[in-house]
Amino acid sequence: MLGASGFLGSYIFKRLYLQEKNIIRQSRKKRKNFIKIDLLNKREVFKKLKKINPKIIINTSGMTDVEKCENSFHLAFKSNVVSIQNVCEYVKTYNKNCYFINISTDHLYNGKGPHKEENINLINNYALTKYLGEVMSSKIDSINLRVNFFGNNFIKKTGLVNWFINACKRKKKIFLYKDILFSPLEINSLTEIISKIINKRISGTYNLGSNNGISKAEFLNLIGKNLKLNLKFAKITSSSNIKNRAKRPNDMRLNNKKFEKKFKIKLPNIYQEIQKFCINYNNY
Ligand SMILES: NC(=O)c1ccc[n+]([C@@H]2O[C@H](COP(=O)([O-])OP(=O)(O)OC[C@H]3O[C@@H](n4cnc5c(N)ncnc54)[C@H](OP(=O)(O)O)[C@@H]3O)[C@@H](O)[C@H]2O)c1
Repeated sequence: MLGASGFLGSYIFKRLYLQEKNIIRQSRKKRKNFIKIDLLNKREVFKKLKKINPKIIINTSGMTDVEKCENSFHLAFKSNVVSIQNVCEYVKTYNKNCYFINISTDHLYNGKGPHKEENINLINNYALTKYLGEVMSSKIDSINLRVNFFGNNFIKKTGLVNWFINACKRKKKIFLYKDILFSPLEINSLTEIISKIINKRISGTYNLGSNNGISKAEFLNLIGKNLKLNLKFAKITSSSNIKNRAKRPNDMRLNNKKFEKKFKIKLPNIYQEIQKFCINYNNY
C-alpha cells in the first residue's frame, strides 16, 4: 500500500487487514511497521518492489494540498505523476500480473454536475497532476477510482469535518460555502467498497462517491446539528468571497452510474452517509 500513513491509506489498511494479513505499507519516511521507499527514485522503487513482488498495489500516496500544488507544479508533478510512473514502469517491466488501484479525485471536474467520467475539466495543478497520474496508471492493468470521502482523521486531525468540529468546539468564527457541491462517501463506506471490489480486478476509470450530492454548508450544518455542536459562529456564505487562493471547482458531484452498473453495488445517498458518520463519531 502506497501512502498508507495518510488519512485514507490508514483506513484502507485497517479494513483490508481484517481479510488479508500480508499487506506491506509504504512511506517516504522511516516509520514503524512501514517499508521506506522513495517513490521518486526509480531504482529504489524497482529494487524494493522486485523484492516484495506484490499481487496488488493500492496507491493513496500523493500531494493533496491544493494550495501547495498550485505554488509548485514541479513538486505536485513529482508527487502525483512521477511516483505513479515509476511504480507502473516496475509493473510493466517485472510484474505484469500485478493489479494497480489508483485513488484519484472528484477535483478533476468543474461546471454543473453530477459529472460523468468523460466530463473532466482541469482547473488547477492538483487536478492536472492527479489526471496525469491516472494517465500513467491506465498504461497497466489498473483501476482509477475518482473519490471524495469524509470521516474522522484520527492521525492528523485535519480535513473538512475535523476542521469544522474543532472550530465549533472552540467557538471560532468560520465560513461554510453554500455554492460548493460535492458527493463524498463516509470513509468506512469507501474502504468497505474497496475491500469488496479488490479481487474483481476490473480495470478502467470510475467515479465512486455517494449519490445525490450536497453543498458543503448544508453538509456541515447537518453534521453540526446531529452532533449538537454550537453553530453560532459558523456563517453561511458564498465561495466567491474567498480571495487569494487557488481556483477550485464549485460542483464536484459525481454521477456514479458507471460504477454501480459494473460492480452491481448500489451506493448510498449523502444523507445516509452523514447519518452513519454521526452515529459512529465517538467510536472511530
Ligand atoms: N482527502 C480528501 O478529501 C480527498 C478527496 C478526494 C480524493 N482524495 C485522494 O485520496 C488520496 C488519499 O488522500 P488523503 O487525504 O488520505 O491524503 P494524505 O492524508 O495527505 O496522505 C497522502 C500520503 O501521501 C504521502 N505523500 C507522498 N508525497 C507527498 C507529498 N508531496 N506531500 C504530502 N504527502 C505525500 C504521505 O505519506 P508519507 O509521508 O508516509 O510518504 C501522505 O501520508 C489522494 O490520492 C487524494 O488525491 C482525497
